[in-house]
This record gives sequence, C-alpha cells and structure tokens, in this order.
Amino acid sequence: MALFDRAIASVLPAVPKPLVRALASPYIAGPTLDDAVRVVRALNAAGKLATIDVLGEEVAISSEAREIANAYHRVLARIDDERLDAGISVKLTGLGLALGEELCRENLTAVVDDAAARGNFVRIDMEDSSTTDATLRLYRELVASGRTNVGVVLQARLRRTIADAEGLREVRLCKGIYLEPVELAYQDADVIRESFRATLRALLDRRAHVAIATHDEALIEDALAQVRTRGLGRDEYEFQMLLGVRTERADALVRDGHRLRVYVPFGTHWYEYSLRRLQENPKIAGYVAADTVRRLARRATP
Ligand code: FDA
Repeated sequence: MALFDRAIASVLPAVPKPLVRALASPYIAGPTLDDAVRVVRALNAAGKLATIDVLGEEVAISSEAREIANAYHRVLARIDDERLDAGISVKLTGLGLALGEELCRENLTAVVDDAAARGNFVRIDMEDSSTTDATLRLYRELVASGRTNVGVVLQARLRRTIADAEGLREVRLCKGIYLEPVELAYQDADVIRESFRATLRALLDRRAHVAIATHDEALIEDALAQVRTRGLGRDEYEFQMLLGVRTERADALVRDGHRLRVYVPFGTHWYEYSLRRLQENPKIAGYVAADTVRRLARRATP
C-alpha cells in the first residue's frame, strides 16, 4: 500500500468514533436489517442488484460467530419474503475463523445450504493475508462437495493472486484493502492495476464468472474492453461497487446494459468497515488534516 494510504490508515484510529460514524454513514445502510432492505429495494428499483453484508468481523467468542450466522439466516429469509434481487457476502472471521476452522466451516456450510435452498448465492469476502489460505480452502471444499451457489474473492494487491486464480470458477476480483507487507503484496498503485488486469484476463480466458469490483475508471474501461472483445453476454460477468461510492458511474453502467451489484453493509459493528472506507476516500486526508474535522466533531453527536 502506498505510503500515503499507510499514513491515513495510521491516523484514522485517532479520529473520534462519532466522527468516523458521521463520515462513514454513506457507506452503510444503517444499523438494522430493515435499513438494508430499504436500501436494496431502492437499488433494485434502479436496476441494480445487491449483496448484503452483516457487519461484524474478527469475532472472539463462538456465540458471537453463531449470532452472525443467525443474522445471515434472517437476511436470507427476508430477501426471499421481500423478493429482493440480492445475495449475501460473508466474512469468515465473522463466522468464527479465528476460533477454529471447524466452527467456521459449520457456520458457513449452514449459511450456504440455506441460501441454496432459497436459490440464493453466498460470496465469501477475502480478509487480510493471514486468512487467504483458509478462505480458499473452505471455498474449494464447498465447491468440491458439489455446492454451486458460492463464490470467493481475489485481491490483485497480493503477489500470489495470479496463481490462486487457477481453477476458480466464480470470483469477485478487487484490488484488496488490507495493509500487507511488501513480501506478500504489491505496494505501487500501477503494479496493483496491472495485476488486476492480468488476473481478470486469466480468469476470463478460463471462462470463470467474474464480478469486477472496482471504482477505478481505468480498470472499468479495461474490463469493458475485455467484455467487448470477447463478446461476453450480460450474464457472463458483472460489475460491483460499494454502497456510497461512484453512484453515477454505477448508474451509467446499468444504462449501458451491464449487470451491476452494490455491496450493502448493515449492522451495529460498523467501526472497522468504516475505517477501511475512509482510508480509501480521496477526500479523507483533507478532512483529517484540516479544520473541517474539528468543525464536524463539534457537530457530531457523542
Ligand atoms: P481506488 O481505491 O483507486 O478508487 C478509485 C476511485 O473510486 C477513487 O479515486 C475515488 O474516486 C473512488 N473511491 C474509492 N473508494 C472510495 C471511498 N471509500 N469513498 C469515496 N470515493 C471512493 N477488498 C478486500 O480486500 N476484500 C473484499 O472481499 C472486498 N470486497 C469488495 C467488494 C466490492 C463490491 C468492492 C467494490 C470492493 C471490495 N473490496 C474488497 C475493496 C477493494 O479491495 C478496494 O479496496 C476498493 O474497491 C477500492 O479500490 P478501487 O479498485 O475502487 O480503486
């Protein structure tokens, strides 16, 4: 990650929580499932698909992991009841990965099977590099056991990614947000872009279904060119963006006939996700550095 990003990431934890919450509010549907449903309904009405994320990660108690799994079961039921065009995205540390692969496998399999019974789909988000092996392993196990309603994520930032892409059929490709050491990850923005392009080409060459998850205009244009040259049909790929980021670009992709899915997080454990989004907001350095922070802090509720 660039020095600049690291500097921002290191000062963000010092920013008061109420301010983080205020600045990050566009990226999160709200604290409740009703909030997520309302946001997804509006996205669907605008021709966009969604993937719903229950906020919560790095859980340290098995009951919390089960509670997150239960929250996903409630999300799946609501998607069904409300006939929403939405899947779910899960984080394995939210489902108990740090407490042991067995607990995590149990929670994940139950969620994937519930989704399958409802004709729905589960995306396993990719977290920091300490979880990559276990995430790919659990994903591959599910596929090997015949489950087809599950996909994984690759991070272009990681040096290993082009090799990991081998044999994967259902992939969300993103740059990767976690701060990783130089031995494991490219640090230069152009090199990360080049890794994204190369991985996308490799996946499409092997006829994988790719969710192209980026707001980077150069990468979107490059992906559009790949789609055109290969003559891919609408269902053979999709674009994905985060709630609250580049909404107009998302609208334009929908107008041009592409499938576009928005990542919709909700819940009360908003802090870690918010920090990651703020770290990427090009305006955040200004907010953090300037008087704006102090003014907003005075306005923010305690
Ligand atoms: P980049 O960060 O260069 O952003 C391009 C432009 O988009 C910026 O110049 C700015 O205009 C705008 N922008 C981006 N972020 C913004 C923000 N927060 N606020 C305001 N403007 C912003 N990562 C991961 O490690 N594991 C995962 O599982 C996922 N999952 C995932 C799902 C989806 C649907 C998306 C879109 C992204 C992820 N990510 C992720 C995050 C991803 O790795 C990456 O960190 C972000 O998408 C930002 O990278 P971009 O490719 O958008 O480029």
